[in-house]
Amino acid sequence: MCGIVGYCGRKNISEILLGGLKRLEYRGYDSSGIAVGTDNGITVIRRVGKLKNLIDAVPSMLTAQFGIGHTRWATHGEVSEENSHPHTDCSGKIAIVHNGIIENYQQLKDRLIASGHKFKSQTDTEVIAHLLEEAWDGNLTASVRAILPMLRGTYGLIAMHADVPGVLVGARRGSPLIMGIGKDEMFLASDASAIASHAQNVVYLDDGEIISISETGFSITDADNNDIKKPINDMEFENDDFEKNGFPHFMLKEIFEQTESISRGMAGRLDLAAATGKLGGLNMNENQLRAVRRVVIVGAGTSYFAGCIGANFLESMAGIPARAESASEIAYKDIIIEPDTLYFVVSQSGETADTLIALRELKRKGARVLGVCNAVGSTIARETDGGVYIHSGPEIAVASTKAFTSQITTFAIFALIMARLRNMTSVQGEAFIKAFQAIPSQIKEVLEQDSAILALAKKYCGYPNFIFLGRGVCLAAAYEGALKLKEISYIHAEGVGAGDLKHGPISLISEQMPSLFLVPNDGLRQKNISNIKEVKARCGKVIAICTRGDNEIAETVDDVIEVPETWPILSPFLMIIPLQLFAYHCAVLLGRDVDQPRNLAKSVTVE
Ligand code: AGP
Ligand code: GLU
Repeated sequence: MCGIVGYCGRKNISEILLGGLKRLEYRGYDSSGIAVGTDNGITVIRRVGKLKNLIDAVPSMLTAQFGIGHTRWATHGEVSEENSHPHTDCSGKIAIVHNGIIENYQQLKDRLIASGHKFKSQTDTEVIAHLLEEAWDGNLTASVRAILPMLRGTYGLIAMHADVPGVLVGARRGSPLIMGIGKDEMFLASDASAIASHAQNVVYLDDGEIISISETGFSITDADNNDIKKPINDMEFENDDFEKNGFPHFMLKEIFEQTESISRGMAGRLDLAAATGKLGGLNMNENQLRAVRRVVIVGAGTSYFAGCIGANFLESMAGIPARAESASEIAYKDIIIEPDTLYFVVSQSGETADTLIALRELKRKGARVLGVCNAVGSTIARETDGGVYIHSGPEIAVASTKAFTSQITTFAIFALIMARLRNMTSVQGEAFIKAFQAIPSQIKEVLEQDSAILALAKKYCGYPNFIFLGRGVCLAAAYEGALKLKEISYIHAEGVGAGDLKHGPISLISEQMPSLFLVPNDGLRQKNISNIKEVKARCGKVIAICTRGDNEIAETVDDVIEVPETWPILSPFLMIIPLQLFAYHCAVLLGRDVDQPRNLAKSVTVE
């Protein structure tokens, strides 16, 4: 959610800070601001709305060699210039940017007001600036260290002080913060995208750490002022990863990238000779994997739906009882951990608060938890007992597309490994791998139908409501298709089990409520056809995604998109593509902000 960036160095600071904020735009925000240290003290510029408003307000050349920037996703206090970050203390010498929530801010604020501090905003964040003013002893790191124990909640923050030119101090608990190292310049940021074009190396900070940077160096300490040595990693992103490369939106680029991103997630992980898969990061040997009796997959939103499909793979292919749980629910329920249950947490960003809290709860109670993450070095990736990177590359559009198919790629490989350690024969394993390896080129064939899907979107985007239906492994794909449509087009859409239709949702069916059915050529096809007929009998319009050449379905429904034949279990890979494109085209036709839909953030770091 929102983002922060800080810079110490001699390049044009407005370009660095605004460029960094531009790269962080994808995370979702409602206002933005910067503070820079000049000879005359700290200058703060803030604006509501799109970053362009801030860019227009900031002089193109600022003579400053340290500064901080922020995109805010309001939690406390309305969206206004006064509530935008950076926030300052009474003297105006201290400036703060903060991601997260200070839960005890009201008590702190009352106390600070009673001792004479004047507040200028309604945010929780502003207390940090005043606490620092109160604790100020001439040493920025020591003052930050002194106030952190007073803060309850989550923070990734950067502080600067006019009397300590050229220095920034950052701290984190629950919200991400990384440091970037360039040539004679140093950065702080909430994620690598903000600094990828400048920094050659990155250091991922952990909760409880305090970092001080200047143009030439840095030091990391803990709450007791002990020095901490951290690994210095290469910056793994190319500048190009953050460009649209000719596509009008990141979302469309990412949809079209899926042929490559899935292939990347398979590369080196399938062993045709042994008819199995290989996932190096699991940190479990074959005996440990054989001893697993149940699998529980935890995630939020799209990642949860990927987990549902993963659970389905495990049950169907390996015969292991498996289920997915919503992260925000499992974090607060009475979890019964059984020793032979393996947990996965799945998260594109690796920073989702609900998923992180669930992970920590599971670990506290003794579970072995593996991660399935995209963002390298993210908090979830680092706190799990092992895991797999999905390698889909940076996903910039708020609506997840390529990360979803890469997540299910990982689960398909894991299910293959588990199946081959149990009941699956080498002949079946080999046949599965061949069908699986064909998926990227089959996705290409589906993508070639983009103009037919655009025509479908033109026909249907005026409807205010939709039902997406599926069964078996395609049920979660229907949920995911409905989520895509609602999050970017703002059309109300619900995912419903096709078999559940008659238990209630069928009362919604009318000419005004189109249904979109996912009908692979599997054992449930005939049952799906019966459900389609039930809708047609009630004058409902039906779009079906079915297997190429399925004339019976084509003749029954109003509109059809055909996908190539695959193993039924792999059908979500192909069925989800038209749903992503359909949501995309509806959103564009309705004039929506596709990559940054209203109210949403890419990485949801608050509960
Ligand atoms: C996806 O389109 C959504 N924006 C959202 O549901 C997302 O999948 C969810 O917030 C989880 O994010 P994560 O994968 O980064 O943990
Ligand atoms: N809670 C702070 C606010 O509402 C920070 C929100 C954010 O992370 O952007 O200003």
